[in-house]
Amino acid sequence: MKKYFILILMICAFVHTQAQNEKMNEFITGLMNKMTMDEKIGQLNLVTPGGAVTGAVVSKDVDGKIRNGQVGGLFGITGPDRVRQAQEIAVKNSRLHIPLLFGLDVIHGHKTIFQIPLGLSCSWDTALIEKSARIAATEASADGLDWAFSPMVDISHDPRWGRIAEGAGEDPYLGSLVARAMVKGYQGNDLTQNNSVMACVKHFALYGAAEAGRDYNTVDMSRLRMFQYYLPPYRAAVDAGVGSVMSSFNEIDGIPATANKWLLTELLRNQWGFKGFVVSDYTAVSEMIAHGMGNLQEVSALALRAGLDMDMVSEGFLTTLKKSLAEARVTQSQIDDACRRILEAKYKLGLFDNPYRRMSPERAKSEIFSDANRKQAREIARHTFVLLKNDHQVLPLKKTGTIALVGPLANNKDNMLGTWSVSGDWTKSITVLDGIKNVAGSGLNIMYAKGSNISDDTAFIKRVNVFRPEIVRDPRTPEEMIREAVAAASKADVVVAVMGEASDMTGESSSMADINLPSSQENLLKELVRTGKPIVMILFNGRPMTLNWENDHLNAILDSWFAGTEAGNAIADALFGDYNPSGKLSITFPRSVGQIPIYYNHKNTGRPYDGVEPPKFKSDYLDVSNDPLYPFGYGLSYTQFSYSDLSLDKKQISGSQALTVKLTVTNSGQFAGEETVQLYTRDMAGSVTRPVKELKKFQKIYLQKGESKEVSFTLTADDLRFYNSDLNFVYEPGDFKVFVGPNSRDVKEAEFVLTK
Ligand code: NOJ
Repeated sequence: MKKYFILILMICAFVHTQAQNEKMNEFITGLMNKMTMDEKIGQLNLVTPGGAVTGAVVSKDVDGKIRNGQVGGLFGITGPDRVRQAQEIAVKNSRLHIPLLFGLDVIHGHKTIFQIPLGLSCSWDTALIEKSARIAATEASADGLDWAFSPMVDISHDPRWGRIAEGAGEDPYLGSLVARAMVKGYQGNDLTQNNSVMACVKHFALYGAAEAGRDYNTVDMSRLRMFQYYLPPYRAAVDAGVGSVMSSFNEIDGIPATANKWLLTELLRNQWGFKGFVVSDYTAVSEMIAHGMGNLQEVSALALRAGLDMDMVSEGFLTTLKKSLAEARVTQSQIDDACRRILEAKYKLGLFDNPYRRMSPERAKSEIFSDANRKQAREIARHTFVLLKNDHQVLPLKKTGTIALVGPLANNKDNMLGTWSVSGDWTKSITVLDGIKNVAGSGLNIMYAKGSNISDDTAFIKRVNVFRPEIVRDPRTPEEMIREAVAAASKADVVVAVMGEASDMTGESSSMADINLPSSQENLLKELVRTGKPIVMILFNGRPMTLNWENDHLNAILDSWFAGTEAGNAIADALFGDYNPSGKLSITFPRSVGQIPIYYNHKNTGRPYDGVEPPKFKSDYLDVSNDPLYPFGYGLSYTQFSYSDLSLDKKQISGSQALTVKLTVTNSGQFAGEETVQLYTRDMAGSVTRPVKELKKFQKIYLQKGESKEVSFTLTADDLRFYNSDLNFVYEPGDFKVFVGPNSRDVKEAEFVLTK
């Protein structure tokens, strides 16, 4: 009965969508019949008058172009009044009154800034992640925007790459869940809603695999690797109904993604059924000249033919497509298709009904940077911190006694927000010093000393400070600063050292070959350690860092990433135990840059190093172990969780059966807390080689002190599918291992067989 009911609902929904599509097609066909070729090409042009610029070129005479019908969308301006002004030019003064689409990099919040995406993914909490995107959409739309250039779902195995901060880490399964949550958060249930924005999944594709971790660099990999590791999150975003896709800067199989027909048409549209539009990245069309693909006319024609619909900033489409049409290098229907897809996006966003629907000074006043949003930012941030070390339960701290609060990020509003927070107001962010005062109250004596600069390297500081002075050098010498911090430390019960990166040490064009703490900070830590006081490090970082010395010498390390507007309050909540940290790494921390690329779901090789001596002729290094410093999935709690009684309900399952995996988790420590129970599998033999572990499921559970819970997972053959050498997504009968644990390393295991 229930089945029939669902079927009827599905049929009704299908019929309704068909009717809506017909209405939309009729409207757009009518409009396109009135459009000149120039006006159609104009729709394919995305410009920016400035603002958050990420390249050398900025669009000129934007108002004039809007008036002439030469602009389809605009990015870089915000605020209901400013956006309205631009929209009015299009709607009132252009010949056909076609509204513009307003986009922006809304990446981890709009004005209320949330934890950076890499940190958010460490919550392993898709509901919270969706909520952050929902709030971002509410704020961005009230500010006049229709379109967020997010989520960034590029898998990466390389912490040298600065943009690793913008994604969800290394795992295709977790990355796919995060991608879906963010698309749902931005787009809501209905794109015409005034508080929904269209999402734009990026950067399609494989951008996170840039060679040597150097931004914009070449990518080259097998199809099998693409499908296994890199493509699933983009696919998940498409399946979740993402309205647009941004092509990446890199090449794929020797052809830049922006002009790669296999990628943009064969895979994205034909195989995955994507129905929205594809926009290039910033000047990615004209950059194909430097890639060696031809002149502006040639690369623009190549991109259009490949399936690119909108050209961001290059104006290659605007200035050359008409000529290419006359010379039969592109066809009218290729231009029509692209134009139609952009008009469809505007239609779906309700812009033809009311082009001003998202520009609401009233909503902007009440819904942007509201107390409620800030409260959520604090709550969400708390769930993202990863406790990397906590010897002898030095954390949580007591709200009494004396702490020495030191380090260049302890009282530093400039660097709480992290990369890509273009609309965030850093002056309104909460520092760690303020947060500690707010949370600990008057019973705690705080002695603050900066102790060091983020970096003392002037050439490096100049590179980082391109947008604004994030690294400010103190007029004092390093020795004077250290002396002050050591003096404070020697009078304190405990030292809290707030160390790490400046916001723009990660993000676009911020790759690093050395991912240690800068030497100015290491020097400070070394002197602090000599005081013999317990030292807790709060780490600000947009990437995994090599923290061997810190791990060996400090008592506790709490990774807080860049927690956003409410960073200081959220960090203090965790420091004093008002919140018990529960984050788990979505990315591996190496011991050495020499281990990169390092990721948990690697292949085994024919000569794996298995710990059996002698290691000669095994796959390893002479000078460093194969193991990471902190593995994927790792993260401690103030309490302890023990795992026991792993059991499978069957030894064998067929392709149509389900396997139940059960275990008991007990909170054996002194605090209530949340744990993320992780399930991995290994396919012991396949027609192609398989990873040593793959995350398949996880569950978050909350346990009171002393409480035990039985956790149960269901696995079916569908969970065991992979791409074979024909790129078919199959499962193959054979032996499997299943692993369950608190991270990818410390697992309990069992075996089962999959039959036909
Ligand atoms: C370049 C970046 O790669 C992309 O992520 C961003 O959305 C655009 N610039 C627009 O700012």
